[in-house]
Amino acid sequence: MAFPPQFLDELRARLSLADVVGRRVKLVKRGREHSGLCPFHNEKTPSFTVTEEKGFFHCFGCGAHGDVIGFVMRAEGLSFPEAVERLAGEAGLEVPKATPQERARAEKAKTLYEVLEAACVWFAGNLASQDGRAARDYLVGRGLHDGTIARFRLGFAPDRRDGIKIALMGQGFGEALLLEAGLIIRPEDNRPTYDRFRGRVIFPITDRRGRVVAFGGRLLAEREKAPKYLNSPDTPLFHKGRLLYALDKAWAAARDGKEIVVTEGYTDVIALHQAGFTGAVAPLGTALTETQIELLWRLVDEPILCFDGDAAGGRAAARAAERALPLLKPGKSLRFALLPAGEDPDSLIRALGPGAVQAVLDRAQALVDVVWRMVAGRQPADTPERRAGIRAALRSHAYAIADRAVQEYYLGEFEARLDSAFGSGRRQRGRRGVRDEGRPVHALGLQADGNLDILRLRQQQLLLATLLNHPDLMAEFGEALGMVRLDAPELDKLRQEILKSLGSGVDTADLQSHLIGQGFSGLLGKLLCGAVYEHGVFARPGGNLEKARRGWLELFERYHRRREFGAEIDAAVRALTDEPTSQNRVYLERVREQQLRTNDADWGDEDFDQATRARPPEG
Ligand code: UTP
Ligand code: MN
Repeated sequence: MAFPPQFLDELRARLSLADVVGRRVKLVKRGREHSGLCPFHNEKTPSFTVTEEKGFFHCFGCGAHGDVIGFVMRAEGLSFPEAVERLAGEAGLEVPKATPQERARAEKAKTLYEVLEAACVWFAGNLASQDGRAARDYLVGRGLHDGTIARFRLGFAPDRRDGIKIALMGQGFGEALLLEAGLIIRPEDNRPTYDRFRGRVIFPITDRRGRVVAFGGRLLAEREKAPKYLNSPDTPLFHKGRLLYALDKAWAAARDGKEIVVTEGYTDVIALHQAGFTGAVAPLGTALTETQIELLWRLVDEPILCFDGDAAGGRAAARAAERALPLLKPGKSLRFALLPAGEDPDSLIRALGPGAVQAVLDRAQALVDVVWRMVAGRQPADTPERRAGIRAALRSHAYAIADRAVQEYYLGEFEARLDSAFGSGRRQRGRRGVRDEGRPVHALGLQADGNLDILRLRQQQLLLATLLNHPDLMAEFGEALGMVRLDAPELDKLRQEILKSLGSGVDTADLQSHLIGQGFSGLLGKLLCGAVYEHGVFARPGGNLEKARRGWLELFERYHRRREFGAEIDAAVRALTDEPTSQNRVYLERVREQQLRTNDADWGDEDFDQATRARPPEG
C-alpha cells in the first residue's frame, strides 16, 4: 500500500475504467453508465454497471464494487501492488519505488488530507455560528445564496491567534501536522505558533477529486498592510501552479459540454457558478502557468481566458498568449474574452446579470487575433521599415510554436493578413494597417457595444452615489437631479425617492438611513461599493468635496451628450431598417464611431480612475 496517492490518482486518471472492464465484459452504454453481465457472479440479465465519471464499478446483483485497480485485482486474481504494477505498464507510468521515506510520505499525505478536511469543517462551522455573523452578512451582501456558500464550503477564520490551533489540537492533530498543512505559522524566533488565517472569509481549495488541499482567505474589510487575499503555502498536497480553483466542479461541467472560463478571482468563480457558468475556474493567486494551461486542455480544446479590458488586462492577455504559443498543439488553443474596463465577472453579473457575461464570452477572440493585434495593432505601419518590423515580430511569435503543423499555419495566416493589411510589399492595398495604428484599443475589441451598457450604468450609479456620499452637494444639484431620467428602472425609482425625501424635508445628512427605512438597502449596497467607485474615485465617501462636485458636473454633462447621440443612433437605425441601402449603413457606422470617439475623449479627467480610460496605450 506504499504508493504515493498522487501516483495512484494519476494512474486512475490516465485509465478509462470502461476500457479496462470492456476487455472482459461486453458493455452497453446507457446515459452516463455502462452496463453488462457481472464477471464476478453468474447472471443472465445485466446488473453490473460502470460509472466512468466516478471511476467506480458496481454490481447490483452480488455487490462487487471498486475502482479500476480493484477490478483488475478481482478479475485477474492479483494483489494490490501487482494490479498497480500491471495497470501502470498499460498507462505508461513508472511505478515509484516504495522506499521507507516514501511510505512515510504516503502515510503523512493521508493524515494531511484529514487535518485539512477537519479545518474545512471547523471554518464552515464558524461561519454558521454567532462568530461568523459579520462574515455571513458580507457574503450575502456580495449576493451569494446559501446554497452557493454551502456548495463552495465557504468558512470563516475568527480574528484570534490560536483559534484553529486549539480546536484541531483538541481533536488530536499534532502541531507539526498543522504546520505542514499550512494552517499555523511558526515565527522565526521560535515563539509559539499561531493561526495563519485570522479575521478572514475562507475559500477552501480542493483538488480535482474534491478533497480539500488548501485555503484562500479574504479580509472582511480591507486593512492597511495586510494583503486582501492570503493563500496556504505550497505543501505536499498543494502546488499552486498545478491546480485551479473549482477544478473538480469544472471537470464535471466540461463533460456536460459547458465552456471552461478562466477568471482571476475566487469570488469571480463563485459568482459565475451561481449564474450558471459552472465551468469557471481560476488560478490560485498567480498568473496562469504552463501546467495549468495543459490541465485546461484536458478539459476542453479551447478554454476562454477572461481579462479586464483596461491596459493592464491587455498586457496580462498578451503575457498569457506568449506563454501558450510554445504549447499549442493541433486543435488546442485559447480564447480571450475582454471585460469592460474596470469590471470583473462578479461585478458584471451583479450589475447587468449573466447575459452581460455571456455577451462577453460570445465575443471572445482567437489566440491568433490576440497575437496579431499585440504586434500589428500597436505600432505604426506607415513606412516599409516599420512594416518589415511588424512582419519580423509576427514571425518570431510564430517560431515560438513548437508544434510544426501549427507553426506553419500561423506563419501562413500572418502572411495572408500582412498581405491584405498593407499589400505584399510591392503595392499597398487598402489602408487597414494605417487605421489600426490610430486605434489599437478599439482593435482589441474593448469598445464593443455591450461595454457601453455597463459604462452607462456605472455613470448613472455614480451620479447617485456621489450625492449620497456627499449630501452637501444636494443643495446645488438637487434641481439637476430632477432632470436626469436613469435607464435602469430601479435606479430611477431611487432617484425619485431621493427627490421626494428632500422635497418633504428629510435632512440631507439623514438621507441614507431614511432610504434604508424605505426598503432601498439592497440597491444602496450595489450602488455604494468598490465596483462603482472603480469608475470614479471622487464618489467615495469621505473624499474631497470639491473633487466630488467637479466629478458630478462632468458626469452630468456626459449624461446629456450621450442622450443626444442616443437619439441620433436611433434615427440612423430606423433609416437603415426602413431603407437598407449602403448609404444608410455608412451613416449608422459614422454615428456609432463618433459616439465611440466621444467615449474615448470623455475619460480625460484625472479624477476618473485610470483603469477606466479606454484609450490607446502610448507609443
Ligand atoms: P482581485 O484584487 O482582482 O480581487 O484579485 P477579486 O477576486 O476581484 O476580489 P474581490 O472581488 O475584491 O473580493 C484577484 C485574485 O488575485 C489574488 C486572489 O487569488 C484574487 O482572487 N490575490 C489578490 C492575492 O492572491 N492576493 C491579494 O492580496 C490580492
Ligand atoms: Mn472582484
